[in-house]
Amino acid sequence: MSEETSHLFPTYKRWDIVFQEANGSTVIDQHGNEYIDMMSGIGVVNLGHKHPNVLKAVEEQLQKGWHGSNFFQYEGQERVAQILTENSTGEYVFFVNSGTEANEAAIKLARKYRGKNKVVSFLQSFHGRTFGSMAATGQTKIHEGFGSMLSGFEHIPYNDVEAVKQAVDKDTAAIMLEVVQGEGGIYPGEERFFQAVQEMIEKTGALLIIDEIQTGLGRTGTFFAYEQTPLHPDIITTAKSLGNGIPTGAVIGKAFLKDAFGPGTHGSTFGGNPLAMAAAEATLTTMLAPGWLHEIKRKGESFLEECKKVFSSVPLVKDVRGKGLMIGIELKEEAAPYILALQEKGVLTIGAGPSVIRLLPPLTTEREVLQEAIHRIKEVLSS
Ligand SMILES: Cc1ncc(COP(=O)(O)O)c(C=O)c1O
Repeated sequence: MSEETSHLFPTYKRWDIVFQEANGSTVIDQHGNEYIDMMSGIGVVNLGHKHPNVLKAVEEQLQKGWHGSNFFQYEGQERVAQILTENSTGEYVFFVNSGTEANEAAIKLARKYRGKNKVVSFLQSFHGRTFGSMAATGQTKIHEGFGSMLSGFEHIPYNDVEAVKQAVDKDTAAIMLEVVQGEGGIYPGEERFFQAVQEMIEKTGALLIIDEIQTGLGRTGTFFAYEQTPLHPDIITTAKSLGNGIPTGAVIGKAFLKDAFGPGTHGSTFGGNPLAMAAAEATLTTMLAPGWLHEIKRKGESFLEECKKVFSSVPLVKDVRGKGLMIGIELKEEAAPYILALQEKGVLTIGAGPSVIRLLPPLTTEREVLQEAIHRIKEVLSS
C-alpha cells in the first residue's frame, strides 16, 4: 500500500515490509522473506513472537470472555499485581493499556500525593505521546506544534550530578527517569548520578518515578533495571513486554501512596482486562521461572561484549553501548539508511536518535542467531 492510497494518518514513516507472520525471533513478510528480529516490535515481545505459554493463556481466556469492566473483581488483576509487587519495591498496582498511560497515571499519583506540581525529568528522555508524558519527555521535537505543554516540568541533563542537586527541592513532586535512556539514543545512567538522585529523593521528600517501560521485564538482565542501581523507586511504570504483545501496562506504587488513588481519582475502561491479564500472568511466570533471568543476564553480557568487540573495529562506528539485550550502535552518520540496508540482509533493527542503530532482540533468541545477526550487521556497516 503506497502512502498516496493509504487511509492511515502518516504518523509513521513505514517500511516497505508487510508484517505477515512471526515466530520466536523470526518475522516473515508478504513475500515469505524471513528476518532475524533484532527489535522485538520495539522492545515488546521479550519472550519471542507467539510464545507458547502466552498463546495458550490468551486462547483459554478468549474462550471464557475478555471484558467485564473494572466494576467487577478480576482475579487475573490480583494475581498479576501480586507478582509485580512481590518482585519490586511497590505494594499497589493500577493497570493501563500502554506505556504513555502508565506514565500519565504515575505523574497524577505523584502530584496528588505530594500536592505539588513540579516534576524533574531529563533531556533526551522519552516517556510517551500524551500530554503528561509528552511534557515529561525531554525532547523539543516531540513537543513541537502541539501548543503549550503541561506546566511544572523541568528537564535537566542526564548523568549530571550537579544539575540534579540544583533542580530538585522541597517543591518537587517527583523525579522521573529511565535507567537506560532508550528512544533518546541508548544512554545508560551512571552510578554516581543514581546516587545523587536517591540522595535528593531522601533529602527533599520528592518521589522517584522510574520508567521501566523499555528497560524492564528482563531487557537489561534483571526483572527491573533499577535493581542494578542504588535507586529505590516509589513508583514504577511498565508496559511494552508486560503482555508480550497483548497491549497492557501497569503503575506500581509504594503502600503509602494508596490513599492518593482512592475511589474515583483515576480510571480506565480497558485497563487490566482479563485477556491482557492472562497474557501478563503467562509472560511474568515464564520470566520468573527459576534461572530464567539469570540465563538472560549472562546472554546479554556476552552479546554486549561481542558487539563491542566486533563493531568497534568498524570505521563507521563511533560507540557501542547498552545494558543486557538493549544495545545502541552509534554511527558517525545517519542510521536510517543502514537500518534499511540491514533489512535487505534480513535483519530488523530500529533507530534511537538520529545516528544510533538500536538492537532489542527477543530475550529468547538463540545465541547462534544473535551471532548471525552480528555477522550480517558487521557486513552492512563495513560495506
Ligand atoms: C521509556 C519509554 N516510556 C514510555 C514509552 C511509551 O510507551 P507507549 O508507546 O506504549 O505509549 C516508551 C515507548 O517507546 C518508552 O520507551
